Amino acid sequence: MGTAAREKTKMRTAVDTADAVRFENAAAQVGGRTIWSDVNISVPYGQFVAVLGPNGVGKSTLIKSVLGLVALSAGSVTVLGRPAGQAGREIGYLPQRRNFDSSLRVRGIDVVSLGADGERWGVPLPFAGRYLPSRRAARERVREVIDLVGASAYAERPIGQVSGGEQQRLLIAQALVRRPRLLVLDEPLDSLDLPSQSAVAALISRICREQNVTVMLVAHDVNPILPYLDCVAYIGRGGAVCGTPDSVIQSQTLTSLYRTPIEVLKASDGRLVVVGEPEAPARHHDRHEDEQA
Ligand SMILES: Nc1ncnc2c1ncn2[C@@H]1O[C@H](COP(=O)(O)OP(=O)(O)OP(=O)(O)O)[C@@H](O)[C@H]1O
Ligand SMILES: [Mg+2]
Repeated sequence: MGTAAREKTKMRTAVDTADAVRFENAAAQVGGRTIWSDVNISVPYGQFVAVLGPNGVGKSTLIKSVLGLVALSAGSVTVLGRPAGQAGREIGYLPQRRNFDSSLRVRGIDVVSLGADGERWGVPLPFAGRYLPSRRAARERVREVIDLVGASAYAERPIGQVSGGEQQRLLIAQALVRRPRLLVLDEPLDSLDLPSQSAVAALISRICREQNVTVMLVAHDVNPILPYLDCVAYIGRGGAVCGTPDSVIQSQTLTSLYRTPIEVLKASDGRLVVVGEPEAPARHHDRHEDEQA
């Protein structure tokens, strides 16, 4: 390898080690339709990043592309220094919309244990049993993460009979069992009351800082997590903007992303209100396309 090529490789390595997740000129298609394109997002190691945007804009699709469950139609996504799909064992994932029927008898602790030896993302894991050196070590790790999320008091109860916030803590524990370097959470605050949203947001931030876990979290409302965030990535049909909350969540940036007037108001308590955010732009666009067809 020549000197120039060696320098290039060195530079690439230096950049790779700075970001836990990096999208470059990425686009995704679902059902033959482009959901987003021209997406450039960098998530540095150890940071807490929120993925924001209206319903249907493709936030879950973005998360699934990080997991390697959705292939990009253009560009690339690098996860923990490798192409997406190759870092699965180092990612903890909490999918969107989980609820447990109240008649479900499975205990919280059993749900957490699934993170160690069960199926992941609906796909049976090969060699899952080899991850932990022994059953005893696995049991200890399960107890440890239950303690970490503060769920010890109810982990023995049927999961269908604990509150939404308590279920959420147990599911975060499940995602943490394998000591992931990257935690990907799709709307973990959904359907929680405000005090639970604040408590779960504080817990996730603590995990990020104390366990040095990079966090990508999809949120509908940024306010409960705003005090903890390093960066936000706002997704729009024309691409994405990524940066500090102050630089991204402001009228001018969002107006140009959505190409429609958007006003960001700041309440006296610091809460942000985004006015004029388009609803399900993809679906509106669809209707338009259908009319033309
Ligand atoms: N399996 C599928 N087949 C066809 N279209 C799909 C499929 N899954 C998602 N979509 C469409 O892709 C778009 C992006 O979906 P996605 O779930 O990523 O959005 P989202 O931003 O996570 O929305 P929400 O805020 O409602 O969770 C939507 O328009 C959705 O209808
Ligand atoms: Mg979603």
